[in-house]
Amino acid sequence: MNKYIFASSNQNKLLEISTQLLDIRLLSLLDVGYYDEIIESGSTLRENALIKSKTIYDKYSIPTIADDTGLEVYQLDGRPGVFSARYSGEKANATDNIKKVLDEMQGITDRRARFKTVICLKSKSQEIFFEGIVEGCISNESSGDGGFGYDPIFIPNGCQKTFGEMSLDEKNKISHRSRAIQKVVDYLNI
Ligand code: IMP
Repeated sequence: MNKYIFASSNQNKLLEISTQLLDIRLLSLLDVGYYDEIIESGSTLRENALIKSKTIYDKYSIPTIADDTGLEVYQLDGRPGVFSARYSGEKANATDNIKKVLDEMQGITDRRARFKTVICLKSKSQEIFFEGIVEGCISNESSGDGGFGYDPIFIPNGCQKTFGEMSLDEKNKISHRSRAIQKVVDYLNI
């Protein structure tokens, strides 16, 4: 089985993608003993995905997959976007970030938003990017304790509940990340 590193310490992301990457040996950062923080200094999701995958590839010389994801709210000019992780401050947690989005959305009726994932697959010979998007809207209040991050305030189009109210399986059927990972699966033919 070919080995790949997933360049993230986010266990939720790892759980989500490992259900689709069954025919490769997927190593986490913990598996390879990488504990440092990777500074996401890029100004786009694509730049950050490249920074993460290149940092790990350069250290271990094992093909590396990195995911950078943002929530883009139409009436907030695409924010939090690339700043999703630290939207309400450097030490912000998901609850703080959700509160900031809901506060900013007060009184706004057009609540359209989307999640975008950019994945970079870095190997010796190449850097390839894959994108996955899911359109939806921001709920009026936080709901559900499944998933992670902004999941409790995002209702995908065609659904009556937030990602936070869905099982892993339900989210994975339609999510931005699963769409991007499916492109990786197709590309690698696995
Ligand atoms: P990053 O891709 O790890 O930089 O994540 C950026 C921010 O978006 C973090 O605050 C994550 O919690 C959040 N985030 C990333 N992926 C998801 C998701 O699938 N659902 C909800 N929030 C997410």
